[in-house]
Amino acid sequence: MRIVLALVLLLVTFVAYYQFQPLRSFHFDNPFFRELVQQTPQIPRPSHPIDDLLRAADIDHQRLLDEEVHSLTNAAAAYRVRRGRHPPPRFDEWVTFAKEHDVLLIEELYDQIYHDLEPFWAMPPQQMRDAVAGWEFVLSVRNGNLTVAEDPRFRMDLWHDMLSHIMHLLPDVDLAINIMDESRVIVASEKMEEYMDIALDSRHVNTQLPLEQSFSSLALLEPKDSDHPWTKGGNYWMLAREGCPLSTPARHAEPVLELTSVPEFPTAWPNASYQGYVSNWTIAKDPCSHAHLRGLHGSFIEPISISTTPQLFPVLGGSKLPMNNDILIPAAHYWDEALMFSGGAEAHPDWSSKHDKLIWRGVASGGRHKADTWTHYQRHRFLAMLNSSHVRSGLEDPLTSRTSSIPLDTAQDIFPLHEAISLYNVTPPSTLPTWLDTIASDVGFVDMECFPSTSPKSLLCPHTDPFFALAPKMPMSQMFDYKYLPDIDGNSYSGRYRGFLRSHSLPLKATIYSEWHDSRLVAWKHFVPLDSTYVDFYGVMDYLLGRDQVGKRIAREGREWAERVLRREDMLAYVYRLVLEYARVVDERRVEMGFVGDVMT
Ligand SMILES: *[C@@H]1O[C@H](CO)[C@@H](O)[C@H](O)[C@H]1NC(C)=O
Ligand SMILES: *[C@@H]1O[C@H](CO)[C@@H](O)[C@H](O)[C@H]1NC(C)=O
Ligand SMILES: *[C@@H]1O[C@H](CO)[C@@H](O)[C@H](O)[C@H]1NC(C)=O
Ligand SMILES: *[C@@H]1O[C@H](CO)[C@@H](O)[C@H](O)[C@H]1NC(C)=O
Repeated sequence: MRIVLALVLLLVTFVAYYQFQPLRSFHFDNPFFRELVQQTPQIPRPSHPIDDLLRAADIDHQRLLDEEVHSLTNAAAAYRVRRGRHPPPRFDEWVTFAKEHDVLLIEELYDQIYHDLEPFWAMPPQQMRDAVAGWEFVLSVRNGNLTVAEDPRFRMDLWHDMLSHIMHLLPDVDLAINIMDESRVIVASEKMEEYMDIALDSRHVNTQLPLEQSFSSLALLEPKDSDHPWTKGGNYWMLAREGCPLSTPARHAEPVLELTSVPEFPTAWPNASYQGYVSNWTIAKDPCSHAHLRGLHGSFIEPISISTTPQLFPVLGGSKLPMNNDILIPAAHYWDEALMFSGGAEAHPDWSSKHDKLIWRGVASGGRHKADTWTHYQRHRFLAMLNSSHVRSGLEDPLTSRTSSIPLDTAQDIFPLHEAISLYNVTPPSTLPTWLDTIASDVGFVDMECFPSTSPKSLLCPHTDPFFALAPKMPMSQMFDYKYLPDIDGNSYSGRYRGFLRSHSLPLKATIYSEWHDSRLVAWKHFVPLDSTYVDFYGVMDYLLGRDQVGKRIAREGREWAERVLRREDMLAYVYRLVLEYARVVDERRVEMGFVGDVMT
């Protein structure tokens, strides 16, 4: 609604601007006017829909900045307004930590925590603790000391390290950690609504002071056997769609089982887009709002592994789909200082000295792509769209004249360019292949991740060999020699995103995954959003290449904002806040607990 209002306002301004431009209708034979015309800067180029989206993003971001507070009293007040409860015990210490580490006090930046934890106000605390006791990978805090159960593998290791920086500040708590790529919990949306109703009943700002100001001490966690039902296979879409609201078409959409045929694309611009471009990132990312994504993303075709539950379960992980109910923490990759995911600390080249091109390297991940399914995987689809020979044949032949079943003649069958060219915003289409040769010549898979796997790996992958060549690996720091950095989901979220945001290049982000930072990044302000069909991709690139300053500005603003809200200190502040909330909601006395130090005199 806000976006619509902003757009209407902009439109009105725009019309007014043109109405009152008298020079447009004058005759130029008067010397005075001739001079005036010469002095007038160039007639602005016609407005582009992305211009409007950029202005709306500015407004949105400014609104966020305006919410900043500086004192404990104001932070607690902002908390009560936004959350409808008292802050958790030790909130004053959290604010002190935030101030000491120059962490912005903007309550909205923590929205994801409340989105994730709210349903647990409907789950009995004992049931939550039992669930964790039956879990294999647990991080526990006792007396300000951190312990880790089970083998400290990659991820557990990194999260252990993350929490160890703040363990002395944390209450006793046991946290169940998901070490898989894939998310775990999918509660049916109507069940979720019931939980949210129960949670709402418990939500009020208790005026019967004083409240319980301390957390309970916990005995050591006694691990126990769990009989929790985990679904280990089946069709993931069938499981996932249960999380979609009943009102969405996705909830009733049958899985795409006929995978040998050409993937089905929407015949119109994506739901809630603005002339084909992402206008609401939350909706754009949500498969519930875009049922066709069930046939266009590896997560719904065949993920590497499935282990899900339809029952609410308190498990923490680095990413999830919008229909999942896992609890988000900053992904382990983002805590990892390894060069692969952060790009390193060395100086980045200036925008102006970078190539006017995009770069993409990565593994052909996304799930178990096979001979008769690979055209449905997002990374394969994306690379095919960048390959001029695929595109050339796609422009020439209508799908209908082609065989519609695998084996394909060419990878043009991956997307309906000929049929839907008007959706792709390319004019004239015939120039597309040569244009791609100049802007996207340096892209490719570095590993085909074949299923079944080939041996030795150098054999690549029989079913995709005719369509993709391997490209040499490239360290992330070298990618920063290019201006444009598309970032596409792999088996789940892409771990390089934070590195991209902190570079001097411009991230172009397509994902269906949710992450801890979602309430702190503004699309079109800090990064360029892409729809997961990539129908907007050519138009976005055309826009950016024609307006170098715009890309430069988004890259700079994204980087500066990342240095304000995505630092390690910001992750710690987020996890610290999350643990305080978690420790309260898992406490038997949770409704009587809260910080009121600021209102008690
Ligand atoms: C934390 O654990 C270490 C090693 O197990 C131990 O030496 C130390 O006394 C513990 N500290 C507290 C406060 O329990
Ligand atoms: C479009 O998105 C909205 C908001 O998520 C959703 O309610 C609606 O069902 C979606 N429409 C379609 C056709 O998916
Ligand atoms: C985007 O859509 C969501 C879900 O419908 C809504 O809650 C949110 O306010 C919208 N965001 C903007 C910036 O309009
Ligand atoms: C582009 O497509 C052609 C076949 O259409 C293929 O031979 C080539 O390897 C592809 N290039 C890359 C970099 O994948």
